[in-house]
Amino acid sequence: MLMGNFLKNRKSIRDYKKKKLDNKVMEDVKVLFEEILEEANNKYLDFILFEDGDKIYNSLKGIGGYAGVMVESPHYIGIRLKEVNEESIIKASYFTEKLMGNLSNLNLGSCWLGIKNVDKDIRANVLGEENKNIAYLVAFGYPKAKNPFINESSSSRLGVDEIVFKEELGKPIDIIELENRGLDDLFYYVRFAPSSFNRQPWRFILEKDKVLLLLAYSEEKEINLMDAGIIMYYFEELAKTIGINNRWELIQQEDIVDGDIKYKYIGEFSL
Ligand SMILES: Cc1cc2nc3c(=O)[nH]c(=O)nc-3n(C[C@H](O)[C@H](O)[C@H](O)COP(=O)(O)O)c2cc1C
Repeated sequence: MLMGNFLKNRKSIRDYKKKKLDNKVMEDVKVLFEEILEEANNKYLDFILFEDGDKIYNSLKGIGGYAGVMVESPHYIGIRLKEVNEESIIKASYFTEKLMGNLSNLNLGSCWLGIKNVDKDIRANVLGEENKNIAYLVAFGYPKAKNPFINESSSSRLGVDEIVFKEELGKPIDIIELENRGLDDLFYYVRFAPSSFNRQPWRFILEKDKVLLLLAYSEEKEINLMDAGIIMYYFEELAKTIGINNRWELIQQEDIVDGDIKYKYIGEFSL
């Protein structure tokens, strides 16, 4: 399962060489933008390339990223929504994650970076007036070589049993059933998707002929719909490897409430 291995090894890269991208590689990146935006029918989002990474880093350090920990990279991509609605947010993260996978095929590292909490005037100053609503950047560039003698730590992941349920939330699914239905690898690998704060809010309910996706959230752990598009992208790619070529359909249904935790219905995928 090539996609599975890719996902298992996929890591956010936070250490970059200072070196700018070679012109040829930058051209390849721009072609990727076009191809992916075309696939999105030029709806939902635009990729805005910021070649001068120093300017972005110096202006956003201390205020962008988790608690102001800005990732320093030679270039950044702004994810600019064409419209702010749930579908656009989900599709934007779906296509951005696809882009990040393609960047890694060019041997480039990347990392999502949240800048939603940066004052809009500052964002307008740094990114340009037309980009002041950009809430996410992707840092990218040549990854720094790793020290082969240091064992890289990787972010932990929830178990399949913590995110996949049978027919209703909380009702455990038997791994044998997943195996019999050929879905064990899919759910094993999809957990390696990135998520904001590595919260892994995805919950799947497996029914007879479909899977439902919900996102868990609470007052302290706010919902981030970007997490939905990312998991939908990887789910579809992994499903393809087992011969299921379907797409997620977005659904609207009242949230499930369980004490302090709520679950928002996101989509359904026919099996
Ligand atoms: C929507 C989104 C926003 C993120 N924002 C940040 C960020 O601001 N700073 C950061 O260092 N990492 C950020 N990340 C990266 C996640 O922390 C990372 O993907 C997660 O911890 C899993 O680690 P891994 O990607 O190495 O597997 C973000 C990821 C997503 C999906």
